[in-house]
Amino acid sequence: MAITINFGLILFFHILASNFDILPARTCSNHKFTARRVYSSCQDLPHLSAHLHWTYNSSTGQARIAYRARQGSSGWVAWAVNPNQIGMVGSEALVAFHNSNGSMAVYPTLITSYSPSMLPGELSFQVSGLSTEYSNNEITIYAVVGPFAGGSLVNQVWQAGSLVLDDIPQMHAVSQQNLQSTGELDFLSG
Ligand SMILES: *[C@@H]1O[C@H](CO)[C@@H](O)[C@H](O)[C@H]1NC(C)=O
Ligand SMILES: *[C@@H]1O[C@H](CO)[C@@H](O)[C@H](O)[C@H]1NC(C)=O
Repeated sequence: MAITINFGLILFFHILASNFDILPARTCSNHKFTARRVYSSCQDLPHLSAHLHWTYNSSTGQARIAYRARQGSSGWVAWAVNPNQIGMVGSEALVAFHNSNGSMAVYPTLITSYSPSMLPGELSFQVSGLSTEYSNNEITIYAVVGPFAGGSLVNQVWQAGSLVLDDIPQMHAVSQQNLQSTGELDFLSG
């Protein structure tokens, strides 16, 4: 009788462990998206609690991406490609935040200087399917981007700021994390 009960308990915990995510997700590959979105590759970016997920189509040069990053409900996040150089200036971004009316905003914007307008703009590469959502203290930006002049190889830049005023994202902090959030990305190799 005792054996039967113990076996039942073991089985119960085994089922419990396999059916639920008891441990917090440690890497991007464990992340489950809403609406059954699935991506073939991902990167845990080294700064700002950010992750990039993508599926690259090498015949079209387009990447279907999901960029997600930790953020409070009053802050903003952005993911960008810099077609010209490494770093912030010249990068072409997708930015997302909560509007003052509570709905989410997401749009492309050009980072033309260290003090950009952060208003909607037109990027040099194609952007489609742009949407965003907020859940579990993360903002996620969904889009299809590209093709890019350099093929699968891009300079990516990502950023976050805690303040949005009059529906315009404001200057981010200048901590190490904010200044080092840039790097080369090869959509083919990850
Ligand atoms: C890439 O895009 C082309 C053109 O839209 C499409 O025919 C093809 O199935 C896509 N490849 C993959 C792997 O999705
Ligand atoms: C919230 O504000 C944005 C920007 O002005 C607007 O596009 C959107 O329709 C508004 N949403 C609601 C629910 O009022």
